[in-house]
Amino acid sequence: MASLLFISLLLSFVALTSSLPSIGVTYSSPSTTTTAAAAAAAAASTPPPPPDKISTAITALKIHAVRLPDADPSLIKAFAFTNTSLFLSIPNPLLPAIAANRSLALAWLYKHVLPFYPRSKIALVSVGNAVLDSVAEEDFTPYLLPAIRNLHLALHELGIKKIPVSTTFSFFSTITTAFPPSSAEFQQPAGDLILKPLLQFLEDTNSSFLINLYPYNLYRLNSEIPVGFALFQDYPFNFRDDLVTGVRYFNLFDMMADAVLTSMAVMGYESIPVVVAETGWPSGGGEAGEVEANEAYAEMYLRGLVRHLKSGIGTPLKKDGVAEVYVYELMDHENGGGDKQRGRKWGILSENMTRKYNVDMSDGAKNSGFMAIFTAFIFVFATVWGIFFAIHDLGVGN
Ligand SMILES: *[C@@H]1O[C@H](CO)[C@@H](O)[C@H](O)[C@H]1NC(C)=O
Ligand SMILES: *[C@@H]1O[C@H](CO)[C@@H](O)[C@H](O)[C@H]1NC(C)=O
Ligand SMILES: *[C@@H]1O[C@H](CO)[C@@H](O)[C@H](O)[C@H]1NC(C)=O
Ligand SMILES: *[C@@H]1O[C@H](CO)[C@@H](O)[C@H](O)[C@H]1NC(C)=O
Repeated sequence: MASLLFISLLLSFVALTSSLPSIGVTYSSPSTTTTAAAAAAAAASTPPPPPDKISTAITALKIHAVRLPDADPSLIKAFAFTNTSLFLSIPNPLLPAIAANRSLALAWLYKHVLPFYPRSKIALVSVGNAVLDSVAEEDFTPYLLPAIRNLHLALHELGIKKIPVSTTFSFFSTITTAFPPSSAEFQQPAGDLILKPLLQFLEDTNSSFLINLYPYNLYRLNSEIPVGFALFQDYPFNFRDDLVTGVRYFNLFDMMADAVLTSMAVMGYESIPVVVAETGWPSGGGEAGEVEANEAYAEMYLRGLVRHLKSGIGTPLKKDGVAEVYVYELMDHENGGGDKQRGRKWGILSENMTRKYNVDMSDGAKNSGFMAIFTAFIFVFATVWGIFFAIHDLGVGN
């Protein structure tokens, strides 16, 4: 009996060590913004740093995962022979062509993957970004699933079976609510038309569900949320209860993550890994009166997020929590990184590439080394203990 207890203890430690989410960062090159105004602003400002400098800066920060929404080939190349895994995205305007013609999916792979893989550790391709948000300008949703399937087939045609394909959603155009998380669902009609078949594809191909998740934006929409709750601060009464599940939440990030997990569970796909493709807190800029966009809060958010992820406690509804988290964004951009972010400064580095915050974002390799030794110790101990009791029991039996 006692040895059983140790074995279960051992298993729980194994689960803990294997489940620490990786922490990455996004890098969007400012030169690729699409609006004319942004392009003019970019042309007038200092040119973006050369790709090698970006790759060196990320290695220096000990960050091992990078999301490149523009999938600029010179950047992909700059990460060759680094241990940095790359998460590439295909821009929305390419979806209709890729959906219509698989040879255009192949053409994209010939330009962005084949010349660099596997020297550059391309780990994931998102076909489109926040397609459900774009409905007002141009509706790309009808092309989403056919484009994803074509890219997946094209990868297999090239004999590349280890790069999963998915797409990225934003919380606000996908999930109904985060209050309480247990009542969340996918918004309709996209839920049945897009999400359900997509989740089936992700399950069939062993891929992940990708979502942008900004407690900052949810906090701004809900004035009754205390800012400390959005910033991972521990105050005595800083929690919210989900009365349906009886679960207590200590931060807004977990509430949003569990709202996503609940929505997936409602459709029967709770075991697909969830990747937070973007999260962050701006340190300045934005609209007048955005007083919470300041450096002190941005640092509190980053520090709290990293500490929470490294603790390995997951979310209240899922022990191993989210699989990966990408912090938006590596650098402040003079033009705010595109009009989507309205001139806010999201960078963990300033424009001249100096560090703004003293937060260790390395993925705790030392910790997991320690945990491995600890686990091995427990294992040996449990085995010896088990043998001891087996002998002891035999003795008693005689
Ligand atoms: C990358 O990882 C491999 C194995 O984990 C290791 O042998 C290699 O030295 C690492 N390379 C770099 C540049 O860190
Ligand atoms: C698909 O694209 C290729 C390359 O551009 C072109 O040669 C071919 O005709 C296209 N096929 C269809 C069905 O549009
Ligand atoms: C899915 O991923 C898991 C874990 O990475 C792996 O063990 C399994 O073989 C994969 N299955 C398929 C069908 O690729
Ligand atoms: C870099 O930029 C930051 C913020 O704009 C500034 O405080 C700092 O002095 C600059 N450092 C150098 C070396 O230029």
